[in-house]
Amino acid sequence: MKLNDLKNKYLWDDRRPFIQDNVLMIPHHYSLHDKFDMPHLHSNEIFGNDNPVYIEFCSGNGEWVIEMAKSNPSINWIAVECKFKRVSKIWSKMKNNGLDNLFIVYGKAEEFCKYYTSKQSIENLFINFPDPWFKKKHAKHRLIQQSFVEQLATICNPGGCILIVTDNSPYRDQIIDEMRLHNSWENVFDDPFYKKEYENYGSSFFHKLWISLGRDIHYMKFRRKSEQRDSNPRPSGPKPDALAKLRYAP
Ligand SMILES: C[S@@+](CC[C@H](N)C(=O)[O-])C[C@H]1O[C@@H](n2cnc3c(N)ncnc32)[C@H](O)[C@@H]1O
Repeated sequence: MKLNDLKNKYLWDDRRPFIQDNVLMIPHHYSLHDKFDMPHLHSNEIFGNDNPVYIEFCSGNGEWVIEMAKSNPSINWIAVECKFKRVSKIWSKMKNNGLDNLFIVYGKAEEFCKYYTSKQSIENLFINFPDPWFKKKHAKHRLIQQSFVEQLATICNPGGCILIVTDNSPYRDQIIDEMRLHNSWENVFDDPFYKKEYENYGSSFFHKLWISLGRDIHYMKFRRKSEQRDSNPRPSGPKPDALAKLRYAP
């Protein structure tokens, strides 16, 4: 027996996902995701109603998603962030604003999509300023790659959209290529498939930072195509009454 065997073994093996106070905690470097009985996102255990669900991945300190949840109360929002300090910031803003239409995921976007989200259960998706990993040798760490694009297509309702925002043009080009490569998505914007302005989109920490430094912002939007094999999907897009109240309508 080595000294470390005792302490590390039990603490490590004891880790499991759990939900506490509107936060789903997914342990890092964990493999037993399928042992967790995740409530359906449209069930009473998560939001207590069946309103449409929108996800923001890579939420950072949550500035954007908090504003969205405040101004669109008939949408259920999910913020996904993998750094605990940032999750705490989103959580305290959620509490201080008394928001009951926001659920937070502390974990990796890829794992949340793959193991905790059902097929065609999400109406719209957003990714604001995903880490660009701008050095060529680090590009393999970028979130938006074919495997993730495929997961997004699985969880998104046909007719639903994903909006991705970045200041980084090489990543912008990669995102457009990855989305066009996958036949479940179609571009909403015409060639060159992005816009530099998006009225009433909202703002995040990094959005403000890059604007203050004079950088261009690139907005990309893709719609989940309908497929014949989607034989029994939930109705796509937000309910009409939810859409009427939206400040920002995707
Ligand atoms: C550049 S920041 C953008 C934060 C925020 N969206 C904004 O615009 O201010 C990228 C964020 O994505 C988070 N992140 C990176 N990879 C992630 C992943 N695989 N799953 C969840 N969050 C991730 C980082 O921790 C970081 O907070």
